[in-house]
Amino acid sequence: MATTPTNNRGTWNSKLGFILAAAGSAVGLGNIWGFPTQVADNGGAAFILIYLFCCLVVGFPVMVAELTIGRRTQKNPVGAFKALSNGNPFASIIGYWGVLCGVMILSFYIVISGWTLAFVFEEILFFLGYESMAQTIGDLGNGPKNALFTVGFMILTVLIVTGGVSQGIERATKTLMPVLLVILAILIAYIFTLDGAMEGLQMYIMPDFSTISGGLVLSALGQAFFSLSLGMGALITYGSYLNKKQNIVESAAYVTIFDIGIAVLAGLLVIPAMFVAQASGVQIFNPETGALFSSVTLVFDVLPEMFHNVGGLIGMLLGVTFFILLGLAALTSSISLLEVPVSYVIDEHKVRRKKAAWLIGGIVGLIGVIVSFELALIDIFVAIFNEIGLPLGGLMICIFLGYFWKTENALIEMEDGYENVRQSKFAPIWSIFIRYISPLLIALVLISVIWDLLQGLL
Ligand code: PFF
Repeated sequence: MATTPTNNRGTWNSKLGFILAAAGSAVGLGNIWGFPTQVADNGGAAFILIYLFCCLVVGFPVMVAELTIGRRTQKNPVGAFKALSNGNPFASIIGYWGVLCGVMILSFYIVISGWTLAFVFEEILFFLGYESMAQTIGDLGNGPKNALFTVGFMILTVLIVTGGVSQGIERATKTLMPVLLVILAILIAYIFTLDGAMEGLQMYIMPDFSTISGGLVLSALGQAFFSLSLGMGALITYGSYLNKKQNIVESAAYVTIFDIGIAVLAGLLVIPAMFVAQASGVQIFNPETGALFSSVTLVFDVLPEMFHNVGGLIGMLLGVTFFILLGLAALTSSISLLEVPVSYVIDEHKVRRKKAAWLIGGIVGLIGVIVSFELALIDIFVAIFNEIGLPLGGLMICIFLGYFWKTENALIEMEDGYENVRQSKFAPIWSIFIRYISPLLIALVLISVIWDLLQGLL
């Protein structure tokens, strides 16, 4: 059995604290908006079924893999692969790739998250009757304004990460996650009192299997990867702060279920809300193509319209709560994105946490400011670092674990906290998934994304 490390890295204070922190990383912009938009775009309930399949078949096994690698090595992603491969430089590339993806994904994630902060002010200003000021703050094309909120969000993220693992990340997510659930429940209850909500519900729960296609399966898999925070070592890093008493398999199951649950709840809010907005005259679908407006436009252009149509104090309160909810979810994800490069700098370059967080935060903030003025960069970064980067990272993790470190060694690590894991049914099933099924499915996604990109370029 693996021994408990004696170094002084942080650890999670409690079992629940870790699960909430990891769930906080998973639940973010991807769930609250990405998932409902994909559902609306892909035939409603049929997409949900495929998405669930992807989370369970690929997401869950890879999550167990990342957490196990993290706890075994007690290191950041670069250090972890170095340690498990006796310093093989090719293995470290997986870790460096994760750090790079963390920096680049965070640099646009803070721009979109900054908009959530901006819209809290927009809703308040609109309510107070300062309509032109509200419009300036709500204008997504306004570079200086975007930059201001981007930097603001980056500072918030850095402040939590400088607090360290248990005092910063764990304490913040332990409070924020339950708040998020409560706000979500209130908004769902409210939306169903409005005209049009039932039409949305129908689309959400009645599967239309005629919409299932290869493309739909691939977008469901991509969404599962991003939403569960997999492929860039965020959960290797969070796993490195786990103590040996924690059952990794059980924790990963809770996080996966929590992430799916929040996405499903978010859909239950956003999809009916779209139809409510439509019933009050807001355009949801492009009249020429019949397709849904883009996800970014939908949240930040269409939903404020709906809140304004509700009007008065209630409309303002709903709008403010919704954007606070989105901001909170984004914050608990952005801290995990920042923690990957920060833990790398702390471990590998012996820099103190505070200095590391401000240093990396400064670099990411700077790229974020550039993105704020040049929003087209978001699409480019998404294509390279989300759509290719994360699945590529996940594929490399599966191959490394399955064929180099070996699943048997991973199962030995899992015995701490789950004594009979090697005798359980989980062991052989997980081994088959991590060696064959998950990498094969990820490879399929990757080939299709690259194929699509090439076709777009030609
Ligand atoms: N899971 C987050 C979301 O759904 O918004 C995004 C994310 C966080 C992706 C952390 C990757 C990651 F490592």
